Amino acid sequence: MIIMKRQIKRILFGLLSSFVFVILSTAGLQQKRPEVPYVPTPEEVVVEMLSMANVSGDDVVYDLGCGDGRIVITAAKELGCRGVGIDIDLTRIQESRVNASNAGVSDRVEFLHMDLFEADISQASVVTLYLLSRVNLRLRPKLFQELKPGTRVVSHDFSMGEWTPDKSTVIEERVDYVPLQDTRFIDDYWNKHSVHFWIIPANVSGTWKLTVPTLSREKPYRLEIDQNFQMLKGKAYEGSVSLPLDIRNGKINGDRLEFFFERKNRGRTEKMHFEGIVKDHDIVGFVRIEGKPDFEEKWHAKRDPSTKKSIEE
Ligand SMILES: C[S@@+](CC[C@H](N)C(=O)[O-])C[C@H]1O[C@@H](n2cnc3c(N)ncnc32)[C@H](O)[C@@H]1O
Repeated sequence: MIIMKRQIKRILFGLLSSFVFVILSTAGLQQKRPEVPYVPTPEEVVVEMLSMANVSGDDVVYDLGCGDGRIVITAAKELGCRGVGIDIDLTRIQESRVNASNAGVSDRVEFLHMDLFEADISQASVVTLYLLSRVNLRLRPKLFQELKPGTRVVSHDFSMGEWTPDKSTVIEERVDYVPLQDTRFIDDYWNKHSVHFWIIPANVSGTWKLTVPTLSREKPYRLEIDQNFQMLKGKAYEGSVSLPLDIRNGKINGDRLEFFFERKNRGRTEKMHFEGIVKDHDIVGFVRIEGKPDFEEKWHAKRDPSTKKSIEE
């Protein structure tokens, strides 16, 4: 009787362990499953993506979800840059390594078998994507957190929500199959591919003290900048004058910003154009006044670090 009970206990334990093992391994498999199926980017679209990002020999191109490695391999082979491909599917990574070797670029590219959301992408100067809009949206905060201002991002077909592209184009790929329902109407069949391009903007949100040293009799301006990805708006407060000026046409391209505001000077309106380069909490640049070709003065600005907001908020 006791022996029978022990046997039943062992069998039950065995069943439970297998059940837990099945649950755990299924959970593990689910975690490692690609979130996007493998569909390769056609070569002519690869060429357009690399050209839109202006890839050169100095770049490090990361393809997140690299498939057979074609984007980083083409970039390394044709443009002489370095590349990193990341894919969650081991078969794709093995395929990429063979393709890199066949193309003679194994010394300049590497392929990592991992989840793209866990990869360190901070060394990229160009990031290429062929994922899905919802995956791009989940990836967006990581792009802003890890990539340096000025890093270029190119996506085949899929957008980034309200972060509007700096450039977009459509490529027509001639394909040698014709969908059945269309055979009566067309001889050639063309597939349309969109390519979208963004530049990671520096974060210039917050309150800045802006000084134009040569206008020393004037008190510094206080700028309050609201940033919506690469677009800027806000207010400029002039000395003790309480009425703020509107910051207009504010844009940031990587670490380069520009904007203008109009101020009153001895009863006349002056349109002041500012251009500058951002480094963390400092901006330096030149200001020009419309209609005064001889006026070009240096300016600088310093941010109160506590006023900086995340671009994703
Ligand atoms: C549409 S294919 C694009 C392949 C390649 N970038 C191209 O354009 O030819 C998407 C790739 O992303 C990979 N993938 C999907 N989810 C991933 C994840 N979470 N981490 C890494 N790779 C992933 C898939 O295995 C697949 O190879």
